[in-house]
Amino acid sequence: MSKVTVIGAGNVGATCADVIAAREIADEVVLIDIKEGLAEGKVLDMYQTSTLLGFDTKMVGVTNDYTCTANSDVVVVTSGMPRKPGMTREELIGVNAAIVKEVVGESLKYSPNAIIVMVSNPMDTMTYLTHKVSGLPSNRIIGMGGALDSSRFRGYLAKALGVNVNDVDGMVIGGHGDTTMIPLLSKATCKGIPVTDFASAETLAKVVADTMVGGATLTKLIGTSAWYAPGAASAMIVESILRDQKKMVPCCAWLDGAYGKKDLCIGVPVVIGRKGIEKIVEVNLTPEEKTAFDRSAEAVSKTNAVLREQV
Ligand code: NAI
Ligand code: 2OP
Repeated sequence: MSKVTVIGAGNVGATCADVIAAREIADEVVLIDIKEGLAEGKVLDMYQTSTLLGFDTKMVGVTNDYTCTANSDVVVVTSGMPRKPGMTREELIGVNAAIVKEVVGESLKYSPNAIIVMVSNPMDTMTYLTHKVSGLPSNRIIGMGGALDSSRFRGYLAKALGVNVNDVDGMVIGGHGDTTMIPLLSKATCKGIPVTDFASAETLAKVVADTMVGGATLTKLIGTSAWYAPGAASAMIVESILRDQKKMVPCCAWLDGAYGKKDLCIGVPVVIGRKGIEKIVEVNLTPEEKTAFDRSAEAVSKTNAVLREQV
């Protein structure tokens, strides 16, 4: 029996729960929110797609009752405020830190062995906060950001190259912020062939720029931050944990010396399996990518310092 709790039944949380249920990634999904009736209602709606889509996952929706979340294998944290147009992820620190602290504490009371997947923004800092307040080993705290940014990178690359999106591979590391993420152009390929063989430097520079403002572009179009890809990216990480798939995904991980950094959570390639983060993969970065990574680490550390002032 595998069980996943998704905290926050808003756009991202509900989408994540929906993907997990419809794809039968877990045997049971619990969706929880503080807003009365929201999780119950969304779960009932999702349940009513079972016969239409042909799945049979146990689904529970609750208002702030953590007893229903007991013995979850994975807890996905999406509770908190999303970005509004013109807002940075960093502007969400104060409000979301208090929420994250509370929901992580409540979840671990009932699911002491759970692996936490942190989604709430500013995600790198919320992942760092979870390390500081939970006492969990670092393999059991995974920040979701690079998985989403990489899917956007691959999408923009496929469009620019005019090829099938699933033939394109690529990773985005660093912080999950418009100016801190680093799309690794040097490592991006189409069927194993470097993308630099297919497109001009100018085209690829535009792909990188579009990727970096990928979230902001959607926030501007929709009026709030995106949810389909964020929900699916979170569910993909849950699947790699529960099915021990050992997928290599850029995730926000606690660094204790890797990439020359300490006391920091930031996006790096990791292997995700049943134990959570099973390995941090150190790739050779070009001198430009290394400089960008150092700059990104510095920016994330600065945001962590704001967190220390606010909580
Ligand atoms: P939303 O506003 O649609 O949903 C948030 C939900 O959290 C609301 O339903 C709210 O009632 C609930 N909530 C607030 N306090 C709570 C508490 N103490 N316990 C349980 N539930 C609580 O927001 P959305 O769009 O789902 O985004 C959620 C978070 O995810 C935001 O912080 C957003 O910035 C972040 N995000 C992160 C991404 C990433 O790649 N890491 C991508 C997209 C969004
Ligand atoms: C996103 O990247 C805002 O983190 C959110 O869509």
